[in-house]
Amino acid sequence: MTLALALHALAAVVWVGGMAFAYWFVRPAAGVLEGPDRQRLWRGIFARFFPLVWLSILILLASGYHMLFAGYGGFAGAGLHIHVMQGLGILMVLIFAHVYFAPWRRFRQAVDAGERETGARNLEQIRRFVGINLGLGLVLVAIASSGRYWP
Ligand code: HEM
Repeated sequence: MTLALALHALAAVVWVGGMAFAYWFVRPAAGVLEGPDRQRLWRGIFARFFPLVWLSILILLASGYHMLFAGYGGFAGAGLHIHVMQGLGILMVLIFAHVYFAPWRRFRQAVDAGERETGARNLEQIRRFVGINLGLGLVLVAIASSGRYWP
């Protein structure tokens, strides 16, 4: 339980913290670059960040369900915050999987082929979904970390 919770929290920090950095700091600062350079910058950022998100997801799910079944004896023994965490967590994973296999794939191909319009359209989609996942992730972390003290 101790190791699983430590890994779980670290993976959550990497995923949610990475989205916060991209969305709140890189995005406004990247405005100084011209379109093609900006698209290449985001291509480089996502190419490094997204594999780490997959690793975080793997760790979150494995450690989460390990704690749930080995620590709490299954769904019946778990508090409301754990059910909410699981629900929001699965939603975040589905959203990320969509981003990865649809707009990110198209964005990558468009940047490599120099198709700026397609690139811009797909980058905008990625931005929107990352914004949603960032919001969900912040709510999830607040619920997950405070839940055990709820009355
Ligand atoms: C989807 C399946 C998931 C399951 C089954 C799960 C399960 C758990 C369990 C059993 C705990 C311990 C709670 C306690 O003892 O009160 C926990 C804690 C936590 N989880 Fe999850 N979790 C999941 C997904 C996620 C995701 C996707 C995130 C974040 C992106 C996340 C973030 C956290 C955080 C921040 C804590 C609290 C750590 C602490 O401060 O003690 N979990 N989770």
